[in-house]
Amino acid sequence: MKRPIRVAVTGAAGQIGYSLLFRIASGEMLGKDQPVILQLVEVPVEKAQQALKGVMMELEDCAFPLLVGMEAFDNPRAGFKDVDIALLVGARPRGPGMERKDLLQENAKIFTEQGKALNDVASRDVKVLVVGNPANTNAYIAMKSAPDLPAKNFTAMLRLDHNRALSQLAAKANVAVADIENLIVWGNHSPTMYPDYRFATVKGESLQAKINDAAWNKDTFIPKVGKRGAAIIEARGLSSAASAANAAIDHIRDWVLGSNGKWVTMGIPSDGSYGIPEGIMYGVPVICENGEYKRVEGLEVDAFSRERMDFTLAELLEERDGIQHLLP
Ligand code: NAD
Ligand code: LMR
Repeated sequence: MKRPIRVAVTGAAGQIGYSLLFRIASGEMLGKDQPVILQLVEVPVEKAQQALKGVMMELEDCAFPLLVGMEAFDNPRAGFKDVDIALLVGARPRGPGMERKDLLQENAKIFTEQGKALNDVASRDVKVLVVGNPANTNAYIAMKSAPDLPAKNFTAMLRLDHNRALSQLAAKANVAVADIENLIVWGNHSPTMYPDYRFATVKGESLQAKINDAAWNKDTFIPKVGKRGAAIIEARGLSSAASAANAAIDHIRDWVLGSNGKWVTMGIPSDGSYGIPEGIMYGVPVICENGEYKRVEGLEVDAFSRERMDFTLAELLEERDGIQHLLP
């Protein structure tokens, strides 16, 4: 039997957790021959811990052969011990009367503490995915709070945006999602993101040439992908959960098992390329192989793209400046 992989999930009793945990335990994230141990972290609040117990009872009742261990925790320092993968889903949601800035400040505390805990107790090779919003800046905070871990181990989720863009493009061009390659979503997981299909192909042919509609790109596609989260909230009364969990599974599965030569979008610390200052957690195209992601390099940035990429960057710099004083 393979060595079990330890997976920590924060916010484990939340909506995304409920869609995520069962798929991890069934082998959809790490492979159908890969045993897992779940280390589930929730806030030290009776109601949350009680709800987590219920979810764990359901996990037990599935009798997943690959789930060889599972434990509940009420703090990250205990919950992240020796973990190989950390899915940081739990975050403070925006409440009535709260400004975006308040959310940043509150989450800065959470992600500073979680980054420090990862730094001190997680596997040195831990792969971290931040889902909790604002995901890019939370990932940046966690990374900066973990100076003993390689910065490249910290990532933010833009895969949901990537998947949303894929579906919109497939519908517009009347092609199969599976046939679209080389899509990118640049920047922040927020309405400023820039989904970019200039390099996308369908069975080797240019998708842009097939669609050939610059007005649709600018006025429909880009805003629709950017505002999809808000549209889901409006329709469902709750934010996306199953699709977010699905994207988290896609992100980690590709990082660990490889993306088979395909471009996928990950929020990763910038190396300074594409005019993005070093360290900023920015969505870029990557190819995953042998447990590592590699940035797709050398792509042309035209004037329209430069403007879009700088717009989403400006927001990330503003978010960073808002929390810089809270970093260790
Ligand atoms: P939810 O409110 O249903 O669940 C969040 C859970 O996290 C709650 O059970 C809460 O108790 C827990 N939690 C809060 N702070 C915690 C902490 N410090 N440690 C451990 N647990 C903590 O929310 P949800 O729908 O599951 O969404 C979770 C987060 O994911 C939100 O921030 C949401 O905005 C974000 N999200 C991101 C994306 C993305 O694409 N990046 C997509 C959807 C949702
Ligand atoms: C999403 O994109 O669905 C989430 O980030 C939730 C949100 O607030 O938009």
